[in-house]
Amino acid sequence: MFRLSDKGRGIRDMFDAIAPRYDLLNRLLSFGIDRRWRRFAVAQLQIPAGGMVLDVATGTGDVALTIAAATPSSVRIVGEDFTPGMLRHGRDKIARSPHADRIFLVNAPCEAMPHPAALFDGVTIAFGIRNVVDRAAGLAEMARVLKPGGRAVILEFSTPQSRFFKGLYHGYFRRVLPAIGGLLSKRSAYQYLPDSVLEFPDRQSFMAMMATADFVDIVYHDLTFGIATVYVGTRP
Ligand SMILES: C[S@@+](CC[C@H](N)C(=O)[O-])C[C@H]1O[C@@H](n2cnc3c(N)ncnc32)[C@H](O)[C@@H]1O
Repeated sequence: MFRLSDKGRGIRDMFDAIAPRYDLLNRLLSFGIDRRWRRFAVAQLQIPAGGMVLDVATGTGDVALTIAAATPSSVRIVGEDFTPGMLRHGRDKIARSPHADRIFLVNAPCEAMPHPAALFDGVTIAFGIRNVVDRAAGLAEMARVLKPGGRAVILEFSTPQSRFFKGLYHGYFRRVLPAIGGLLSKRSAYQYLPDSVLEFPDRQSFMAMMATADFVDIVYHDLTFGIATVYVGTRP
């Protein structure tokens, strides 16, 4: 078993509580756009036949399944998350999918991964890095487990750069989202979501963190007016 800080335990307990309705709320609150974002993120990977991909903070396995759908059947995928409830739902979903024989789920934190160095051809994390308490350690672990030349692809919510969309987005995020989340799941978790997005570093600061973790050739792609951003970095 791994040890977590008080803050880490709080985040894990929150995801455990919302796991049963997590997928439903994702589809509702993003109007289904989240699926397109995940496909775009996965398209940034370059995985050879027979390769291995790690999806960190895999939750209920949506990115792991998207990777499986986009890669040859010889590619194996490890989904890792520190919340047992999210993994339970992921396990059921993966078992019902055509990719059950090549997706493996592991209960572990991003900051201390149970994998040897340079094992994976690609690493992804979607809507996860914002929640990682020791973000620098999490990024360093992602770099450590990547093979040289392998890419890390990080999908995260952002703040739109246009003033108009920023206003609309903040209204939706601060008022509508916690209200719907409260009706169908746990309001405090859907209050935490906008709070954590607004606290997340801006694009340049986050890319600087990736550089500190030794990633090179770092680029970002804004999606849907900058509501979400995909960061790509390569392990030298
Ligand atoms: C918003 S969900 C995203 C799940 C999934 N990647 C997706 O695209 O739907 C965030 C996930 O990050 C996980 N998580 C948060 N902090 C973590 C950490 N330090 N180590 C591992 N998993 C973490 C949570 O348990 C949760 O499943």
